[in-house]
Amino acid sequence: MYTQSFNVPDDAVLKQVKPVASTEPPELMARFDARIDADGRIEPQDWMPEAYRKTLVRQISQHAHSEIVGMLPEGNWISRAPSLKRKAILIAKVQDEGGHGLYLYSAAETLGVARGDLLDALHSGKAKYSSIFNYPTLNWADVGVIGWLVDGAAIMNQIPLCRCSYGPYARAMVRVCKEESFHQRQGYEALLVMMKGNQAQKDMVQDAVNRYWWKCLAMFGPPDADSPNSVQGMRWGIKRISNDDLRQKFIDATVPQAKVLGITLPDPDLKWNEARQHYDYGQIDWTEFWNTVNGNGPCNKERLATRVKAHNDGAWVRDAALAHARKQQQRNMKEAA
Ligand code: 3HC
Repeated sequence: MYTQSFNVPDDAVLKQVKPVASTEPPELMARFDARIDADGRIEPQDWMPEAYRKTLVRQISQHAHSEIVGMLPEGNWISRAPSLKRKAILIAKVQDEGGHGLYLYSAAETLGVARGDLLDALHSGKAKYSSIFNYPTLNWADVGVIGWLVDGAAIMNQIPLCRCSYGPYARAMVRVCKEESFHQRQGYEALLVMMKGNQAQKDMVQDAVNRYWWKCLAMFGPPDADSPNSVQGMRWGIKRISNDDLRQKFIDATVPQAKVLGITLPDPDLKWNEARQHYDYGQIDWTEFWNTVNGNGPCNKERLATRVKAHNDGAWVRDAALAHARKQQQRNMKEAA
């Protein structure tokens, strides 16, 4: 279902935007543009314009931060999962998100940045991460809804990134998307089970969907007209599908799933448009979105404080790992001498 995002002819996107004027050496720039036009991959050892490198560092590091901050809202529920089975699934899922963060920090490092600097930017509040993780998880149904809708939106956005022009990012996304697909299904299955339960359980699911629906639509980023990075990101084959187009794909895929589940999506304007062959939908509250992105959502301060504490508490593990690596290196050198 989500793999429909692959069905975009490359020409439709890459050739839409002309190469931008650049102060980079024209010969190198021409070779780079030709590779992008041919839908080739750029690898770490290849020459790339500085603006391309910076854009990738920005996007990949924000993505990595989103993965590790994204562990927190669900991590809160590990000790309160309703059964051993749900607890085991949730632990595995939260661990996967940590792993995604690690692949992505590694991909960012191939662009010549230090992981410590990226983490400093997150911990000092300078770096962005996905708006969605600044909302609270109030009941168990929120965990199911995060799997179904948040991971569902994440996959919709990330499948096209498997074909991103930067090789290490594209390759990392293949595994991430496979795991996200499991996350989406386990969330949906948990909700299906709750919807077969009593009225209180059904009400919990509806309440969680009401609180998360609009926030998930905002995850795709601002409307195309207000997205400063989109045109260049698409020209460079980093983004393959625009924010609004991905949002629309997500809505079109999710409405039938909501029907099967038996819940109502909280949008009176949501209806099928025969002429467009898509669902029409209502207005997203972009003021609230920007407020949250800029650090003033309901949980921003709590999320950052938890991250900083976890990082500081883990200092001894990093120190011990470094000491062990140093010892090993010395031993190897002695043996080689
Ligand atoms: N939350 C926070 N900031 C957001 C945002 C969101 N939902 N959507 C957009 N922004 C920010 C952008 O980062 C950009 O900020 P910057 O210029 O200061 O860096 C600004 O808003 C303008 O947005 P643009 O559309 O111009 O920015 P992009 O072209 O980078 O597009 C994006 C935004 C679609 C999020 C793109 O960066 C992207 O596809 N990133 C990779 C995927 C990603 O990071 N996903 C996050 C969720 S991961 C996740 O959910 C984990 C999973 O386990 C559930």
